[in-house]
Amino acid sequence: MTDTSPLLAAENLVRHFPTGKGQIVHAVNDVSLSIAPGETLALVGESGCGKSTLGRMIMALDRPDKGSVRLLGKDLARMGRRELHSARRSVQMIFQDPSASLDPRWSAEAIVREPLDNYRIGTPAERRDRVLYLLEKVGLRPDQAKRFPHELSGGQRQRLGIARALATRPRLIVADEPVSALDVSIRAQVINLLCDLRDEMELSLLFISHDIGVVSHISDRIAVMYLGRIVEEGETATVLNAPQHPYTAGLLESVPRPRPSQRRQRAPLEGDPPSPITLPSGCAFRPRCPIAVDLCSHSVPPLAATVPGRRTACHRAGETTLQETSHV
Ligand SMILES: Nc1ncnc2c1ncn2[C@@H]1O[C@H](COP(=O)(O)OP(=O)(O)O)[C@@H](O)[C@H]1O
Ligand SMILES: [Mg+2]
Repeated sequence: MTDTSPLLAAENLVRHFPTGKGQIVHAVNDVSLSIAPGETLALVGESGCGKSTLGRMIMALDRPDKGSVRLLGKDLARMGRRELHSARRSVQMIFQDPSASLDPRWSAEAIVREPLDNYRIGTPAERRDRVLYLLEKVGLRPDQAKRFPHELSGGQRQRLGIARALATRPRLIVADEPVSALDVSIRAQVINLLCDLRDEMELSLLFISHDIGVVSHISDRIAVMYLGRIVEEGETATVLNAPQHPYTAGLLESVPRPRPSQRRQRAPLEGDPPSPITLPSGCAFRPRCPIAVDLCSHSVPPLAATVPGRRTACHRAGETTLQETSHV
């Protein structure tokens, strides 16, 4: 990648939700990340770790309590209404459940056309052409343009959601669990479609998934999130082949393998994450960690560079090897 200035830069984002009972859900705790033009970052971690909350702040659908989100160097929080409206054109979202995000009363073509009307892009004839072009791009047939969401399959509905997200020619797409609600058999098709469109349209992508098993093909880099923090970040192949954080190693161990003979000898992930209301002292992963030491119970490990381009938040990073031992 030649252009290294970030398209998107989130810095020290914090988002806490009051529960109404005087307690606080620590959804996002000091997260920084950046995405370069054309780059795909996968954000992975178990349900409830704060991925969607982070995605919503990046989309300016929710405001951080602390920290900033900059799009092409401009702080979203400092934008006026008009500027924010036009910035939203460059960042679009794809959701997990297309049926919930697509208006059931509208036909496929009306759904894709709406953002073009909203942003007054092109003449009415150009809008019509662009809608048909986009539907074809995502693999829907011309006769499906008049169909309503409930007349399409789950995979086709997600294709429609993608066409709608592409309508305004965004620079960045935040895809929040875009294949999690789909049949396993069609997940790869939708991921391949996203890869092709990203390359062709030079899009950046934040690909959010609770399943680390689906991101290897699509992402350049992976950020692993645990209880509101990024605990490991690096290039996809490096993180997957040689995780430095025991949580990443545990997540990888939990991915089902096609052949049982490929069993790896890492510590499996046990139990559930603690509540984000009462965070453990020290390292939040400590209660589930197979290699925790005393230090981990009272000191939060910072997300620190271990080698260039690689960050890990573990007191024992670099000291132990979490690499596969039985894998050839
Ligand atoms: N609007 C909200 N009000 C209160 N709690 C919320 C709200 N949104 C998310 N949370 C809580 O914040 C935590 C992180 O949620 P979320 O970002 O949806 O995680 P993920 O997408 O990783 O599953 C969860 O404990 C969730 O219940
Ligand atoms: Mg989510």
